[in-house]
Amino acid sequence: MSEGFTGQRSRGKDSTMTTLTLTGDPAETDLLAQAVFVTADADRGAALLLRTTVTLRRPAAEVVSARVLATAHGVYELSIDGRPVSEDLLSPGWTAYGQRLTYQGWDVTALIRDESFALEARLGNGWYRGDLGFGGVKACYGERIGLLAALEVRYADGSLQVVATSPAWSATTGDVVANNLYQGQRIDARRRSAAGPVLAVREAPFDRSRLAPQVAEPIRRHEEIAPQRVWTSPSGRTLIDFGQNLVGWVRAHLEGPAGTEITLRHAEVLEHGELGTRPLRNAAATDTFVLSGQGLEQFEPTFTFHGFRYVEVTGWPGPLDPAALTAVVVHNDMRATSTFACSDPLVERLVANSVWGQKGNFLAVPTDCPQRDERMGWTGDIAAYAATASFQFDTADFLHSWLLDVASETAVEGHVPVMVPDVMRYARLDGPPPFPEIGAQAIWSDAAVWVPQALWRAYGDLDRLAVHYPLMVAHLESVEPLLSPTGLWDQGMQLADWLDPDAPPDRPWAAKAHPGVVATASLHRSAAFAAQAARLLGRDPARWDALAARLRSAFREHYVTRSDETLRVTSDCATVYALAICFGLLDEDEQRSAADRLAELVVARDHRVTTGFAGTPFVTWALSQHGHLDVAYRLLLERGCPSWLYPVTMGATTIWERWDSMLPDGTINPGDMTSFNHYALGAVADWIYQVVGGIRPAEPGYRRVLVEPAPGPGLTWARTTYDARVGRVTTSWRVEDGLFRLDVTVPDGVPADVVLPDGTRHEVVGGTHTFTSAPARPR
Ligand code: BGC
Repeated sequence: MSEGFTGQRSRGKDSTMTTLTLTGDPAETDLLAQAVFVTADADRGAALLLRTTVTLRRPAAEVVSARVLATAHGVYELSIDGRPVSEDLLSPGWTAYGQRLTYQGWDVTALIRDESFALEARLGNGWYRGDLGFGGVKACYGERIGLLAALEVRYADGSLQVVATSPAWSATTGDVVANNLYQGQRIDARRRSAAGPVLAVREAPFDRSRLAPQVAEPIRRHEEIAPQRVWTSPSGRTLIDFGQNLVGWVRAHLEGPAGTEITLRHAEVLEHGELGTRPLRNAAATDTFVLSGQGLEQFEPTFTFHGFRYVEVTGWPGPLDPAALTAVVVHNDMRATSTFACSDPLVERLVANSVWGQKGNFLAVPTDCPQRDERMGWTGDIAAYAATASFQFDTADFLHSWLLDVASETAVEGHVPVMVPDVMRYARLDGPPPFPEIGAQAIWSDAAVWVPQALWRAYGDLDRLAVHYPLMVAHLESVEPLLSPTGLWDQGMQLADWLDPDAPPDRPWAAKAHPGVVATASLHRSAAFAAQAARLLGRDPARWDALAARLRSAFREHYVTRSDETLRVTSDCATVYALAICFGLLDEDEQRSAADRLAELVVARDHRVTTGFAGTPFVTWALSQHGHLDVAYRLLLERGCPSWLYPVTMGATTIWERWDSMLPDGTINPGDMTSFNHYALGAVADWIYQVVGGIRPAEPGYRRVLVEPAPGPGLTWARTTYDARVGRVTTSWRVEDGLFRLDVTVPDGVPADVVLPDGTRHEVVGGTHTFTSAPARPR
């Protein structure tokens, strides 16, 4: 480890590369202050190469350490004498660039071998200047891409040398002749040997007040997947199946005559035996590689990404060799924290689909989908999914980084926008927006509270909670004035139970659940957690307690009716009962009646799913916690459409946006919003981990664990692991010969309450323990 700064070893192939842990301290800002933000004019499609030759003041042998800090408008890759400074990709990622632009840092000591070397950056359009948003928005943040970078070399005698971007750098273009996140990338290898045009480098306006250290893990390559099948489609096209709907790109190695042009088109599904590209809308998702004819050549389009399982290849010289193509999976480098296995392979696949959905959509920001002309940080999607996500991966830094942007966009907009970064605000600057302005929305804007709530539960980090608290306050303060005199949030448009399967395909907001019920209940959940957070942080919770109480009593007065035997919530559908139960709007004795009605509704619809974004994460919880575990299991295990397992029976390898993104006859849903990689409806995985698997935090951050696995009809065993910050928790249960047998492992020194299906409770501290019980609580 070199001196002066600390870093995390990259997990990449070259173990000498180190991504620095940044702090934003003066040593970093002072170094960046020596750099000038530079740009050069090139054709908009082409990647820009910015370069300088570094001449060391002292012999290379006297270099003790060297680090480089950098950021860009656009996305960039830095190299020293052609060797990448790290395996990080698409840096600086995507933040609310107008308010927060992150810089990255790497220890490059091991790359400095000579007294003179080239320091070079390759810059692509990325989110800054590429297409962004489904309204055809281009160059959302600005017309010019550019770089800010500073290399600091420390010598044995303690002296420092700094080489930073300035107009003295040189610029040209290279082999990337077109690059765009949605459209794809064109690489012309003939340009690798030829010198590109000499472009003038100049200083460009740059607001340094936005600079902030990168908080999230970098974006990296992960799995590499070989083609599973290559065949010719009915129309004569060459298709490849990688066997998994994934996010990233295809790397190619091949040899062929100069000028040979290979085109790869990507899609998530096939329709009528051909590539199903209609759901991509205006994203061409097409990469083109032009050969130079100079022997074996490699192409890897790192300035784009695609959501795909299938690729159509044209122009291949000679018979296609599948070994020449590799799908590369790309996402932020979060720690994977869960495993799950059980007796039903379809449920295992559903859970795996949720994990793949997270991989594909935790790329720079938590996105709705990774493939079409959208890929936005839709806040409602992560509001629904944050708890699940935080079981599957350590999301603390990734989501914290995004929440910083939620806060800054909220400060600009006056409410929590439905997408962060808020691309629509920029779209509006250019003319009529692609859709009407949407103000604060239940669930979507509630992400400002629900995401910190999920993080608090998973990681128990009070300092982070304190950082997020003002955002919670901003959200509640922006919505409070929108309440009706009744105290309900029942005015204005709501996305609410988005994608209720009973809504028409072209009207996804037209759900059964009354929008006021959904909005008032959701806001109650937010106010209640804000009050809890205030208590934890030693602040005055009175205002949020009062708001929660007002919402609760309005909800009960206007939306709940009771007779002796029954309880009804307005609009009488699964979602409204799930929310009323899970968000604390009912008294103890009412919850069972509400759950009974919920169970009736689920049974009446033959255990098909009837909920959208709002109800889906909560419906199984509401059932299992109030005496209807068996109904929750049947709902989970149903295979007919719509259900969680229906997509699995159709071969899904990720969670779909719609319950029927693919119709039973194998055609794609006719709606123009049909993704096959949308995690929100996969939020049931949280219930699978925490109720079927039975691993829950008894205290935030799992400092005390609750182990309460709940076996139900249809599963005979389940094995779950969760790598909490305190260590690994494992549960493994089996029902055999009428007995439930459970093995539990808890990290050393960590207390756990083990609750068995027969209702008995046992306390253990660390270690592995075995229990047996009757498989169900006596009624
Ligand atoms: C997105 C959703 C999002 C919704 C809200 C869609 O286009 O893909 O996931 O939350 O719009 O309007």
